[in-house]
Amino acid sequence: MKSARIHAFAENPDDIQVVDVAKPAPVAGQVFVRMLMSPVNPSDLNCLHGTYRHALERVVWNYGKHDPSQTVFYDPTLSNACPMPPHALGGEGVGIVEDAGSGFLARRLLGKRIALASGPPNGTWQEYTVVDAKRAVALPDAISNEQGAMYFVNPITAYVLTREVLRVPRGGWLLVTAAGSALGKSVVRLGKLYGFKTLCVVRGSANTQELLQLGADAVVETSTQKLQAEVFRITQGKGVGYAIDCVGGELAAEVLRCLGLDGHMALYGRLANSPMQLTVRDLMMPVASVSGFLLPNWMAQQSPLKLLSVMRAVKKLTVQGVFATEVAEVYALDQVADAVRAASRSGRTGKVMLRMASA
Ligand SMILES: NC(=O)c1ccc[n+]([C@@H]2O[C@H](COP(=O)([O-])OP(=O)(O)OC[C@H]3O[C@@H](n4cnc5c(N)ncnc54)[C@H](OP(=O)(O)O)[C@@H]3O)[C@@H](O)[C@H]2O)c1
Repeated sequence: MKSARIHAFAENPDDIQVVDVAKPAPVAGQVFVRMLMSPVNPSDLNCLHGTYRHALERVVWNYGKHDPSQTVFYDPTLSNACPMPPHALGGEGVGIVEDAGSGFLARRLLGKRIALASGPPNGTWQEYTVVDAKRAVALPDAISNEQGAMYFVNPITAYVLTREVLRVPRGGWLLVTAAGSALGKSVVRLGKLYGFKTLCVVRGSANTQELLQLGADAVVETSTQKLQAEVFRITQGKGVGYAIDCVGGELAAEVLRCLGLDGHMALYGRLANSPMQLTVRDLMMPVASVSGFLLPNWMAQQSPLKLLSVMRAVKKLTVQGVFATEVAEVYALDQVADAVRAASRSGRTGKVMLRMASA
């Protein structure tokens, strides 16, 4: 079968090789999936570049592990290892379950079309993969392959950030950076649904009209407008109560200065690839707080009951179209390097997808 793999962390998409490998076999609790489609998400680029690995080397529970031969873990219980290449890429997707290991959870998915959240080493950018049945959901007919392929990462993050982490109240202002992203647009729709106001920050104009049509309460284009001045004007000098940032760098530092009293900013990405300089007094004066967020580590801290209720809510909202994401371009698995280049281009209005099979 064809598999899009890296042999070492790489910056150049051409270093992803599509090679012929043996099909994996499901072990107990796993399903064997014939992949249909998969998105190219920013998190896939982190796996390509090795940025998760580099960040994990700095956390205290991996202290002293700088040698690439040492295993670093996502979590302090050392149960979720960050894999080192060589391995396949791809973090989520949609496919058909063709075989299953032992166990009720896996066997009940046999023959079903599922959304799966897998990841290296068992990536989704392959013709076939295996995944733990707990990380798969049978899809109703109402959810297309395209939306099914993007079922996990962004919808759950958008829901959890706004409803569980920040708990943005009805009428409150939520500032959203990189708001033209798939996740940003979902947050705007969540704002309409749950009654909070969204102040969308984008660097160009490619997504401005669509954001306004979706119901954004304000859009600030940082290429031509001054962010803090606009936030002052829009919120009548009060600042925003809540912010989510996935850009980092100078923008995140400026967003901090847009928070009102007791404001809360959640950091969940670093698209700018540069550290945020946190000026302590910018945090002290508004008595504000900043927190970090990584979906798998948030999920690992939740009770099974909480996870069940989140998954139910996300499924219902997906069927309602709250997380609908436009597909900008579709590439064949052999064209994976072009797909990664397309996903890295500025001014996109939808997702870049890989298609492994049609049905
Ligand atoms: N922490 C977590 O658990 C978690 C989970 C899910 C997603 N995320 C993060 O959520 C973010 C959005 O993901 P997505 O899949 O929705 O993204 P996406 O649809 O691929 O869109 C990415 C967006 O980021 C913008 N962007 C890229 N680099 C930027 C920069 N340097 N400054 C400002 N804007 C920039 C692009 O805008 P332009 O058109 O201006 O280029 C584009 O609109 C990513 O950072 C991802 O890693 C985090």
